[in-house]
Amino acid sequence: MANAYDEAHSLSLRDPAAFWGKAAEDIHWVKRWDKVLDDSNPPFYRWFAGGELNTCYNCVDRHVEAGHGERTAIIYDSPITGTKRQISYAELKQKVASFAGVLADQGVTKGDRVIVYMPMVPEALVAMLACARLGAVHSVVFGGFAAHELATRINDAQPRVIVAASCGLEPGRVIAYKPLLDQAIQMASHKPEKCVILQREQKTAELIPGRDVDWAEAVSNARPHDCVPVLATDPLYILYTSGTTGQPKGVVRDNGGHAVALKWTMKGIYNVEPGEPYWAASDVGWVVGHSYICYAPLLHGCATVVFEGKPVGTPDAGTFWRIINEYRIPVLFTAPTAFRAIKKEDPNGEFLHKYDLSHFRTLFLAGERADPNTITWAQSHLQVPVIDHWWQTETGWAIAANCIGLHEFPVKLGSPTKAAPGWDVQTLGEDKQPVPPGQIGALVCKLPLPPGTLPTLWNADDRFRQAYLDEYPGYYKTGDAGFVDEEGYVYVMTRTDDIINVAGHRLSTGAMEEVLSNHPDVAECAVIGVHDDMKGQMPLGFLVLKAGVGRSHEEIVAEAVKMVRDIIGPVAAFKKALVVPRLPKTRSGKILRGTMQKIADHEEFKMPATIDDPDILPEIEEALHEIGLAR
Ligand code: COA
Ligand code: AMP
Repeated sequence: MANAYDEAHSLSLRDPAAFWGKAAEDIHWVKRWDKVLDDSNPPFYRWFAGGELNTCYNCVDRHVEAGHGERTAIIYDSPITGTKRQISYAELKQKVASFAGVLADQGVTKGDRVIVYMPMVPEALVAMLACARLGAVHSVVFGGFAAHELATRINDAQPRVIVAASCGLEPGRVIAYKPLLDQAIQMASHKPEKCVILQREQKTAELIPGRDVDWAEAVSNARPHDCVPVLATDPLYILYTSGTTGQPKGVVRDNGGHAVALKWTMKGIYNVEPGEPYWAASDVGWVVGHSYICYAPLLHGCATVVFEGKPVGTPDAGTFWRIINEYRIPVLFTAPTAFRAIKKEDPNGEFLHKYDLSHFRTLFLAGERADPNTITWAQSHLQVPVIDHWWQTETGWAIAANCIGLHEFPVKLGSPTKAAPGWDVQTLGEDKQPVPPGQIGALVCKLPLPPGTLPTLWNADDRFRQAYLDEYPGYYKTGDAGFVDEEGYVYVMTRTDDIINVAGHRLSTGAMEEVLSNHPDVAECAVIGVHDDMKGQMPLGFLVLKAGVGRSHEEIVAEAVKMVRDIIGPVAAFKKALVVPRLPKTRSGKILRGTMQKIADHEEFKMPATIDDPDILPEIEEALHEIGLAR
């Protein structure tokens, strides 16, 4: 007999308009849509065309008007500053409306872009929601990126206003954001008209008269602003993510499809009810933070947790359990790397067993491949289902998951379970034809993608087609390779491009190579991702020096490491590079990064048939051996 998942999945593919049209009834619309799915201009699909709504209204005002103003909307817990604060829906409405007034006073109107460069404080969500309230398009930039990355995003998004905090906090150090912001604006060719600065007491910033506005002062003078209706197909936000070059891709999210899909996932995937707390331990700068710290929990009327800390060291490996216990959180969503960090500090779960977690129901993991060790460790200590799910910045929510709100399937280690409703996941071989179950190929999703996914890239329809649609006509290319088994379980094995995953953070080795190639002594270079027990992968650079360079290799490597940190940011976690005489290449000159990675990770590899000079591989092996990698 078909279960609720089978029925939902099958209906969503057979009749997407029926499935998503029903889900859309859970959203408040100012004007109902003309068509659930507008497929008149493939490969560009639009959801809820003709409909009008306001995402902020659905996240905030709606709950207050329904009589839930006293419910908690945001739980702010910052072990780094020792602060705890709870904000009710009624308070959140007042804060967001006032801040929308501030933005409007700075000239922000519907369609304008606003960059948000903020740490994990409730004001980050207030800024995002205030943009949504005005119909403005936010673009949140993760705090671990350096000024140059911020400048790239400023040039691409062309914000009218930037909202930033004076500083962010990492364990043991204060990161002054304001100098990074000033530097980025100086580098950028586009200049924002105004910057609104949230002063944090850990490090206040000097404001530039005429350009910078103090958050608190502006709020005290602002009049609350109402929600502005927008088209379902209007953009809600742009989130930049790593592509294969240094130019990040501006993933666009619309308003209508996003609200419908995300609201649906809260029950369908996470099995959470309105009024319950829900915690995604990520950062607002990443897609998980957008979808599951900000929008989805609030759309569903849950309390969302804004956590400013780390899984270990703030103050110890029991922080997650303390928070789950203190706020009676039933569902946690984080990256496997966070669990590996905890497991390393607390292998026997001593911190964990100090807390009563009897109310805790489910752990969800995503962001990178969930290794079986981590899953079994979490299962045995937490005694709850540990559910891996697979998604990407582009998709905004899970492509494959164990949708426990519909039906709980047995977990198969290494698999994020089955394609979620709306997703037709297939595996294609080199001939672009489907391969049999169990055989590895490119993981692709048949178009149209469900609502909530990217309709395009910001101002770059051509790049959108080239990056995702051209290679497999009629499909979205995920960039991941893997397989689907006989029972429909999806297995995600590896990326097919230059993207690596470090501590659940998506990074481009191509972007790092672009930085390294600017070192005056470097003739050519390659960056690969090598296995790391805690972070999953770590970048490793190979530098070939220009002829005649006689300086010490240590010095050059130290400079290269510093360049990547200064230009991309600390989040690149680029700490290691080695100087080698030559790089292995194919006869057509393509660097054999995959083979180098296999040597570094002690994996079996076949000598590539197209290799130009096989003698280079032992040289690479030798160099890796010297730094403790390779056999
Ligand atoms: N602002 C400034 N710097 C930041 C930053 C931020 N918001 N976030 C990270 N950094 C810095 C870190 O301090 C670190 O600097 P260092 O090289 O001087 O030590 C560097 O960027 C690398 O950060 P990261 O790779 O995250 O390493 P970490 O040791 O600080 O933390 C984990 C490792 C596993 C604990 C952490 O990455 C984590 O909790 N990850 C899981 C949750 C998550 O973020 N998921 C994302 C997608 S779901
Ligand atoms: P991001 O856009 O930062 O969310 O990164 C998306 C990429 O992370 C995917 O394309 C995968 O390579 C990887 N990823 C995310 N979730 C999973 C998962 N559950 N299993 C395997 N890989 C994953």
